Amino acid sequence: MKIAISSDHGGNNLRKEIMALLDELHISYEDFGPTSNDSVDYPDYAKPVAEKVAAGEFDRGILICGTGIGVSIAANKVKGIRCALVHDVFSAKATRNHNDSNVLAMGERVIGPGLAREIVMTWLNAEFEGGRHTRRIEKISELEG
Ligand code: RB5
Repeated sequence: MKIAISSDHGGNNLRKEIMALLDELHISYEDFGPTSNDSVDYPDYAKPVAEKVAAGEFDRGILICGTGIGVSIAANKVKGIRCALVHDVFSAKATRNHNDSNVLAMGERVIGPGLAREIVMTWLNAEFEGGRHTRRIEKISELEG
């Protein structure tokens, strides 16, 4: 599995924590920044991750900002992206099982690093269940036009 990851300035610390986790798990990833703590605009950093996941260059994406809300809204504007904003372990599993989410968004100002690590591990390991959920995913795709 290959992961694309980015954040804005509000998510820098948690992004580094999650990259350390991916290193520990020997999961391949590419970091799309930012490279400093300067204030940046979260759509600029959500865009490359969402576009590269949608293009099939990466299997999954992880996006972090202060709340996780901005990056998730931006990512979900990219056709083919199902970005889930998750701050609990139950939803991390459910959104893979039911929504086949391909991007995970979290807020550094919302949760701590320990919970974020659990969420990422759960989300990476959970599988899409297919069946009736496939029909629902297809209806989401129809909304994209
Ligand atoms: C940046 O201050 C903050 O607005 C951003 O990280 C995020 O929370 C937006 O949704």
